[in-house]
Amino acid sequence: MNPFTFQCGTKMIFGAGTESQVGQELVSFGATKVLLVYGGQSIRRSGLYDRVCSAMTAAGLSWTELAGVVPNPRVSLVREGIRLCKENGVDFLLAVGGGSVIDTCKAISFGYYYPGDVWDLVSHSAQPGDQRLPVGAILTLPAAGSEESDSCVISDEKLKIKGGFGSPLMRPVFSIMNPELTCTLPLYQTACGCMDIMAHAMERYFSRTKNTEVTDRLGEAMMKVIVHNLPKVVENPHDLNARGEIMLAGTFAQNDLTGVGREQDWFNHGLEHQISGFYDIAHGAGLAISFPAWMELTLEKDECVEKVAQYAVRVWGVEMDFAQPRNTAREGIGRLRNMIKSVKLPSTLSEAGIGTERFEEMANNLTDVGKSTCGAFCPMSKEDIVRLLKAMQ
Ligand code: NZQ
Ligand code: ZN
Repeated sequence: MNPFTFQCGTKMIFGAGTESQVGQELVSFGATKVLLVYGGQSIRRSGLYDRVCSAMTAAGLSWTELAGVVPNPRVSLVREGIRLCKENGVDFLLAVGGGSVIDTCKAISFGYYYPGDVWDLVSHSAQPGDQRLPVGAILTLPAAGSEESDSCVISDEKLKIKGGFGSPLMRPVFSIMNPELTCTLPLYQTACGCMDIMAHAMERYFSRTKNTEVTDRLGEAMMKVIVHNLPKVVENPHDLNARGEIMLAGTFAQNDLTGVGREQDWFNHGLEHQISGFYDIAHGAGLAISFPAWMELTLEKDECVEKVAQYAVRVWGVEMDFAQPRNTAREGIGRLRNMIKSVKLPSTLSEAGIGTERFEEMANNLTDVGKSTCGAFCPMSKEDIVRLLKAMQ
């Protein structure tokens, strides 16, 4: 295990009806003028919007609204949010939605204090400072884990670039998590979210760092919770116990609890951000296409086989073939593919309507035009990435 520091100060408020506490939480964190940020119509259709407004009114708060966050959230709306905060004396950002809404708030919160254009932070041409507006969240979609993570992901729709930045100060100060709020999710969004949660555990799990039993077992637990509970919500979208387990796994898979003390990989997220930057597909769908194909490719390297076989045994219950551990690993990958198919996520780029035209460009972007490799568990060269993309086709 490697040395590490772990600090996650987000106050988690979990359970039925907890959104009614949002007014008092905002007041306790010093909010006086709130920017209420949300996406499209889902929170209005479910009545959540009205309940949040009532709770804020009862707490004596005033607010301004920023609606219209879209999946793969746009930097143009972040700029609009920064402007609204400055014009209205906003001192607190409240995100009501999924990862895209929370990430929009996080980018506004740092962009507010940055003297230049907020894209400088996303593109890493400038570093976030030590001042930010506090962010609170009411989570409606378990997936990105942004409700406790220290990073955000933003897209420039004109440049067709999706990038991210982070800071230890970026974790929301509170997150309200009521599993009931996720019952209105369409199956596709539920499935994309579950794939993302699995991926967050896997990016950390596939590591060459030795002596990481606690975090291996924690990561396996998050994955097994998804494998066990996703079919239950497919069967019954109102299964609140299953919704709750998925929601909690989503947070713990991405607040870095399962990632401490170990080298992490993150190649698949890097590749997925390229894909959704160019083609604007759902993040979880991109991961569903890339992860099994990447795992297959890792088996070309002897040093990766044992870990993938361990994953197959412990997460999917595959029997270990000690003579041929590659067979064990392949069976585990096959079971992941079956889960992806069973919830109708795309398995190939062509199913997602994506052609070969950007393969070279994506591989160049991830490897500094072939000068470096991408990922730690299985370092991917430019040629490896093009080969992988062809396998994903
Ligand atoms: O806009 P509305 O109408 O609310 O609809 C949303 C949206 O269309 C809908 N939705 C959300 N909650 C709902 C609901 N529909 C019905 N009932 C509900 N309860 O779901 C759609 C997708 O929402 P979005 O927020 O985009 O999804 P998700 O939470 O998966 O977030 C994806 C974004 O997070 C980034 C991704 O790259 C992507 O941009 N990520 C952020 C991370 C982080 N900050 O730590 C890490 C992740 O790896 C990820 O990269
Ligand atoms: Zn993700």
